[in-house]
Amino acid sequence: MGNIAVLGVFVADLAFRATRPPVMGETVLGQSFAMNPGGKGSNQAVAAARMGADVAMITRLGDDDFAQMAFSLWRAAGITPHVTQDAGSYTGAAHIFIDAASGDNAIIIAPGAAAEITPADLDANRAVIEGSDVFMTQLEQPLDAAMRGLQIARAAGVTTILNPAPAAELPPEMLALCDYVTPNETETQSLCGVEVTDAQSAQEACDALKRLGVARPIITMGAQGAYLDGFGLVPAVLAGEVVETTGAGDAFNGGFAACLAEGMAPQEAVRMACAVAGLSVTRAGAAPSMPMRNEVLALLK
Ligand code: RIB
Repeated sequence: MGNIAVLGVFVADLAFRATRPPVMGETVLGQSFAMNPGGKGSNQAVAAARMGADVAMITRLGDDDFAQMAFSLWRAAGITPHVTQDAGSYTGAAHIFIDAASGDNAIIIAPGAAAEITPADLDANRAVIEGSDVFMTQLEQPLDAAMRGLQIARAAGVTTILNPAPAAELPPEMLALCDYVTPNETETQSLCGVEVTDAQSAQEACDALKRLGVARPIITMGAQGAYLDGFGLVPAVLAGEVVETTGAGDAFNGGFAACLAEGMAPQEAVRMACAVAGLSVTRAGAAPSMPMRNEVLALLK
């Protein structure tokens, strides 16, 4: 099993299931509410840990009840926290609308203390990053912090994964530090302007991302699967009825990172990651929906 350092955000997900979102000024009666651990970085860390990886989580939290939720989640998953707690701020939260019919979601996130992560936090965790097989991050914390993490990892020869979510335009010098970037279709369009609808347009987008400096792009395409540059479309793995898609991308990234860290070839790691995501969407919540390794292996058998 490999070592993974994750830079990212933990938030409490406040998920409302309803037939439709409200328009401005309107109140809509929901069908249900649930509070669960979330945040892209933390979700990815949990997915990787449940796949058997040894995971370190670098972030900032407040000093409050949601921070305790984070610590208990990570304790249960065997994740090592490298956390600065800021009593003057708060641990973040996300408002999640879940479409009752499709399970699709729309999210507002307030990262709280994690919005104050700085490059100095990454310098303070240099040894953790340098000692890892894989460094993985996203875009919910400030860009300069992600950049510093990628720089430290690249200088130490650690494999780098950037999940460029939420969607943003990124400087080419950041993309050039990435061994893998894993955008979905929308994020791909923000990064390189190519609209991805099928395998052919996915390869065009990969070519555009490589021209921007990414070594090997992977485009996640929802129900179609994931497109690995130079290899092709790896089909999605159906594991049952879709209950909620929140965290599906995080399941993919965590699963991919864990498999890569233990030495699998990228195409095999993508296949495993599709199964991790396929299982996650059959369950409610983001972090709670991440499957254990034995479930993934059983599904692929
Ligand atoms: O990717 C899903 C996650 O995005 C949710 O858990 C929510 O917290 C937002 O960060």
